[in-house]
Amino acid sequence: MEQTDHLPTPNDAHIRSTVGPTRPASGPAVDIQIDGATFTAFTGEPLVDAINRAKIELAQVCYHPQLGPIQTCDTCSVEIDGQIGRACGTKVAAGMVVRTQTNAARAAQRDAYDRIVSNHDLYCTVCDNNNGNCTVHNTLGVLGIDHQTRPFQPKGYAKDDSNPFYRYDPDQCILCGRCVEACQNVQVNETLSINWEAEQPRVLWDGGKPIGESSCVSCGHCVTVCPCNALQEKSMLGQAGMFTGIPLPVWDAAIDVVKGVEISAGLKPIMNISDIESAARDRYVKKTKTVCTYCGVGCSFDVWTDERHILKVEPGLGHANGISTCVKGKFGWDYVNSGDRLTAPLIRDGDRFREASWDEALDLVARRFMEIREQHGPDALAFVASSKASNEEAFLVQKFARQVIGTNNVDNCSRYCQSPASKGLALTVGIGGDSGTIRDIENASLIITVGSNTAESHPVLATRVKRAQKLGRTKVVVFDIREHELATRADQFLRPKPGTDFVWLGAVSKFILDNDLEDKAFLAGRVNGLDEFRESIGDFTLDYAERETGLSAGVLEALARQIAAEERVCVLWAMGVTQQCGGTDTSAAISNLLLITGNYGKLGTGAYPLRGHNNVQGASDMGAMPDQVSGYQNVTDELTVQRHQREWGVTLRAQRGLDNTQMLDAAIHGQLKSMWITGEEMSLTDANANHLQEGFEALEFLVVQDLYFTNTARYADVVFPAAASLEKEGTFTNTERRIQRLYEVMPPLKGTRPDWQIYMGVADRMGHRWGYTHPSEIMAEIARLTPSFAGVTYERLEGYNTLCWPVAEDGTDQPLLYTERFNFPDGKARLYAGKYRPRQQAPNEEFDLHLNSGRMLEHFHEGNMTFRVEGIALTAPDAFVEVSQELAAERQIQSGQWVRLVSAHGAVRLQALVTGRVNDNELYVPMNARKAQDAVNHLTGSQGDSVTNTPAYKDNRVRMEILGEVGANPLPARNFRWGHPTPQTGVEVERKWARPDYVYPGGELPMLGDSLNARVDALGADD
Ligand code: SF4
Ligand code: SF4
Ligand code: SF4
Ligand code: FES
Repeated sequence: MEQTDHLPTPNDAHIRSTVGPTRPASGPAVDIQIDGATFTAFTGEPLVDAINRAKIELAQVCYHPQLGPIQTCDTCSVEIDGQIGRACGTKVAAGMVVRTQTNAARAAQRDAYDRIVSNHDLYCTVCDNNNGNCTVHNTLGVLGIDHQTRPFQPKGYAKDDSNPFYRYDPDQCILCGRCVEACQNVQVNETLSINWEAEQPRVLWDGGKPIGESSCVSCGHCVTVCPCNALQEKSMLGQAGMFTGIPLPVWDAAIDVVKGVEISAGLKPIMNISDIESAARDRYVKKTKTVCTYCGVGCSFDVWTDERHILKVEPGLGHANGISTCVKGKFGWDYVNSGDRLTAPLIRDGDRFREASWDEALDLVARRFMEIREQHGPDALAFVASSKASNEEAFLVQKFARQVIGTNNVDNCSRYCQSPASKGLALTVGIGGDSGTIRDIENASLIITVGSNTAESHPVLATRVKRAQKLGRTKVVVFDIREHELATRADQFLRPKPGTDFVWLGAVSKFILDNDLEDKAFLAGRVNGLDEFRESIGDFTLDYAERETGLSAGVLEALARQIAAEERVCVLWAMGVTQQCGGTDTSAAISNLLLITGNYGKLGTGAYPLRGHNNVQGASDMGAMPDQVSGYQNVTDELTVQRHQREWGVTLRAQRGLDNTQMLDAAIHGQLKSMWITGEEMSLTDANANHLQEGFEALEFLVVQDLYFTNTARYADVVFPAAASLEKEGTFTNTERRIQRLYEVMPPLKGTRPDWQIYMGVADRMGHRWGYTHPSEIMAEIARLTPSFAGVTYERLEGYNTLCWPVAEDGTDQPLLYTERFNFPDGKARLYAGKYRPRQQAPNEEFDLHLNSGRMLEHFHEGNMTFRVEGIALTAPDAFVEVSQELAAERQIQSGQWVRLVSAHGAVRLQALVTGRVNDNELYVPMNARKAQDAVNHLTGSQGDSVTNTPAYKDNRVRMEILGEVGANPLPARNFRWGHPTPQTGVEVERKWARPDYVYPGGELPMLGDSLNARVDALGADD
């Protein structure tokens, strides 16, 4: 699929209802009549959904299936059982007789439309939103309206340009409230409202602030759902249409001409011209589906481009996200066209680098690899796959290591975050991935998060948690040492002492078992190891837990009772758990708790270690690991060895290779001579950065492959310029195990190549002619070698289609795991008797503060991409250190104060930000840093998880030296964190209906919908 040629019209609504945020379940199937024919519908669903499924054209300006009925526009008015009512606001009931085209219905629809467009200047031909998918424009065609009877009246408010990414034009705003609903109840940022009581209502940010001074997180939900051009991406303005870039005076004059023609000739000829102009845009506006390159949520969307200019990102059909994005996915793409992209291979020449041809660089790498292998053996080389590159590319990295070189020294960055979670799950339930999908999380009755700043690290997934809670469908309990956004929203926020999650998990599990609260049938039928597990937590009384974690025994007892009583429990966790010395044990302890309470294998339950990078799940799935090939098959497994022998013509080495953290130690000790690192800023993201530097300097030959000349590239001998994700095809696998295709949005920047072609170039020169012409051929090989990918093909993943592995040969996938059996030979799960491994770096006299670190919403990881996005860099310009109010008072620190943090491993200089998010002697430093010397990993040490070697990034102590200078607050005034949201239930359309000037176009009939709905509710439809 080159482009997605799908242009949404009102009747595409039914497609969009199959993805996106969960809506209330409908009741039983019933028959209803629509325009004289019988259709099956579902009791309680919005009538408009049934009409759309029947493919009957009906205007519906404010209705968006992923938002649900808003009922602000009245354009969907139809005759229902003889009376006029809104099709979106009326719930289906058995036997309903609906007529959409009676004179009364048509009159109501047209009158409603006429009222809303009196708020909107119809200048479609010169509008950047005239792209075939403008709902206001299309509805005019649906209703066949020729003249506006109520002329457009400007509202008297200025445009708001203060957000770096989008602008609001009140004069184009039809007050449909879609944006408000999206912000209040999908993104749940609660920034937007409409002042319905004002003489001239408009959309408000934080009750009336400029957008740039509000709590807006620039997620773009509002812009995406706006049915016209009132909210518009700035990247579209003056760029999207043939006439939209003309200078302002000419543009204004053009609008006047258009208006003049309308008076004499009516709207139709003007709409015809604008339709021709719109169709002409298809010649140069390309719409290509891709998958976000930032976090593991795996949002997918169409990217609209004109050559290399990104006009906009249009989400809607992605299984993980629907209409949702965060600021990075919606607006964070400037980095692709950044002026400092590498465009030629670089070869070290003494202390400098010189540009080289591809042939020279590939020849050099192949020659040096052969020499090193010849001289020191295959294990003198090591390979790091990128969790930002595709599955196919990660697969080729390990194929290169194992087939071309003959070593198992290959790994990926899940070593830095996810390996303990994968291991903990592999030990207990048999598969080291999320046990269900985002839909399961949305459907839990209780969501517990542990050590996860979900709203900033997995923003779109967090919206589903926030939405389910706001709509009263779930409760949220947050365990964290820092009061992040989800913590402030949680029904219960619990702050255990750092590194003690294992203890409360053990105590809660013990209480459940001791008090007969466990799910006995589930344990008896599906779980092994209860006695050993019970014994292993024998000492974990609530009193002990209280002493060790600081959480009261009473609170933990109540929580234990709650978990046992809940119908559906999901636990989400992240680096607060895994980046500790006991990351694997604690991850297994979470799984144990879910097992003893029967919370696996049914909708709304399960274990969710939230994956950080867009394809960190895929990099491991593809075998970029030192002991397993693709699909987590051990290199010692006989069948696996045979399959690879057949396919690759080599025998897999049986010994485990080096992991990421061992590689640089091996370099320092002289055993490792060469590395090839793809797309990882390893010198800043691995712990103990100063130690890493020593390792890199010890290598004889280092190859780095990236978009930019990164800090890690400084140590390289050869740097390959790689293509960005928008410039290539492939697949990514998100945190749900969901495999999704990405298509080439734009060709690789001149001089760069997709990673898979670079690996092929070196392999070729080393005598292995792989001969792939397209990534689909690599996927075919993956499917041949990997039982859990047996049925994965590019055809099955066409467009927005997805598959959650394991995928059987016939293409059947498994979004929800363990419905029948766990992934062990006997089908039973195994409770794991883990050990409590207390933190090693508790503060002491010399280093008296605990240092925590993590992500920030605006930035991704170390910030190599996001600092190149101008709008992001404006609002979040650099790292800082969060200091608690208590500590600030004690040491007389103010925000903006420069401090030096010193640990046993190094020092960094940062500005303080005094905040209530951290407590007492806790410090928090975002992991993104503009300057390499400020990166938090200059402070972290080399201690790690006992099982997986994942560095214990969260187990650190430092001291803080106060420096003389005080600068401006490191968080600029325009950062959303200073805003003041205005939570409300939604659009609050009742306030519109209460206006003295509001008249329902169907007469006194809005009550019709209400009375019908009451009838449906009385029938017990599930709402
Ligand atoms: S947070 Fe901002 S960008 Fe996101 S929906 Fe609300 S107002 Fe729009
Ligand atoms: S800005 Fe909001 S209320 Fe106005 S037209 Fe767009 S979505 Fe509707
Ligand atoms: S960064 Fe994550 S949440 Fe944001 S758009 Fe990309 S995939 Fe979605
Ligand atoms: S679509 Fe039904 S009221 Fe707007």
